[in-house]
This record gives sequence, structure tokens and C-alpha cells, in this order.
Amino acid sequence: LVALKTSQALAGERVLITAGGTREAIDPVRYIGNRSSGKMGHALARAARAMGAEVTLVTASTQLSIPFGVEGVRVESAAQMLDAVSQRFDACTMLICAAAVADYAPAHPASHKLSKADGELTHIDLVKTADILAEMSRVKGNRVVIGFAAETNDLVRRARAKLERKGCDAIVANDVSRAESTFGSDTNAVTWVSSQGVEELPCTGKQALAFELLRRAVALKS
Ligand code: CTP
Ligand code: CA
Repeated sequence: LVALKTSQALAGERVLITAGGTREAIDPVRYIGNRSSGKMGHALARAARAMGAEVTLVTASTQLSIPFGVEGVRVESAAQMLDAVSQRFDACTMLICAAAVADYAPAHPASHKLSKADGELTHIDLVKTADILAEMSRVKGNRVVIGFAAETNDLVRRARAKLERKGCDAIVANDVSRAESTFGSDTNAVTWVSSQGVEELPCTGKQALAFELLRRAVALKS
């Protein structure tokens, strides 16, 4: 009976999820990346599917498989992720941005492998990437849009500022300086930050947490 209830909580919803960490090419063999494993985003996709939603997972640079019954779109860079998400945003009813998206990308990625023989390489010019969560939130209509924030300090203050700045409905704030919430971990301890308040959730496995976050997301529907 519990399973049956769970399976219907997102019936009729079309959930779009970003996951993983983007890679921004420096040259054909090198990139700027981050420590995201993709586990939280993939767990959300699996949970949303189990709760009856139609799910699309836009996932960057992870070895993880696409969960059964989920439409997977593999991307690499922030620009590719933005493209994939904006093409599918109209059709979704809920967007969850769990990806760690690069904030800056090399301005002029080289088309050939850079070599020390070409001369000293002491810096790389960067350009700012688009903020996918903020851009989609601007045109969200009555969709539910949820972001994540990985922080090492000032967790709640920073998460509140992001909620405000990006215009999403909630931020799942993650203190990555805590042992149970480090990158690649199977557990996560997060704080749910919405306009309705701040709630610290107990530390749990990422899969169980995914179900809890989706229950909260659907409760935000206006
Ligand atoms: N995000 C995004 N596109 C970006 C950067 C971030 O969609 N170019 C999303 C992430 O997926 C996450 C949320 O925004 O859901 C917060 O990401 P975070 O890196 O914590 O926020 P930033 O605004 O980039 O702030 P910071 O300077 O702290 O990195
Ligand atoms: Ca960032």
C-alpha cells in the first residue's frame, strides 16, 4: 500500500532533472571540471520515475547508467546542458537542477592539444557560463523549480541568497564540508530552504532523500 501511494505521487508530472558535473574543454584532452558524482541527480530520476512521473535526465560526465524508464540525455559542457534543458523546459512541469555546472569556461578552447613546446601556458582566459537554474526560473510559470547549493560555510545564509537571486521555489542546501555529505558519498545531510522556511533534514541515503525531496517539491505546487 505504501509502495502504491508512492508510485502515484508524481503521476501526470513531467520531471526534468540535471545531474553530474560539467566539463569545460581547455583543449581536446584537458578540461575544467568538478567533483560531482551525479549520484543525487540519478537517484532523483529513479525516484521520480518510481513515483509515476515521466522523467528526463540531463546528465554530465558521469559513468552512472540512466535509470530504467528514464529518458537520458548525456552532455558534457554547461552550454550543452543549457541547450538540452531549454529545449525540454516547455514540456516539463518540474525542473530539479542537481548538476554542478561550471561557472566559467575557457574563452578560447584550443582545437589541438596544447604543448609546452608552443610556449609557456601560465593562464587561461575564462568566460562566464549561463546560469541554467536562474534562466529557467525567470520563465517558470507555474512549474516547480528546485535548485541545489553545495557550500562549505554559511550554509543557510548562502542558500537563502541563492533562492532569492535565482527565483526558484526551493534550494536543497548541502554542507560539503561534513563527512556524510562529501562528493561521491552515498549519504547526504541537507537543509531544505524555501520561502516557507528552513528545515534541516536528517542524514540519509541519497535514494531515500530523493523520495523525500520529491514529496516536498510536489507539495510546493500552487
Ligand atoms: N546552476 C545552474 N547553472 C549554472 C550554475 C549553477 O543551473 N551555471 C544551478 C546548480 O545546478 C544548482 C544551483 O544553480 O542547482 C546553485 O549552484 P551554485 O554553484 O551553488 O550557485 P552559483 O549561483 O553558481 O553560486 P556560487 O558562486 O556559490 O558557485
Ligand atoms: Ca557555481
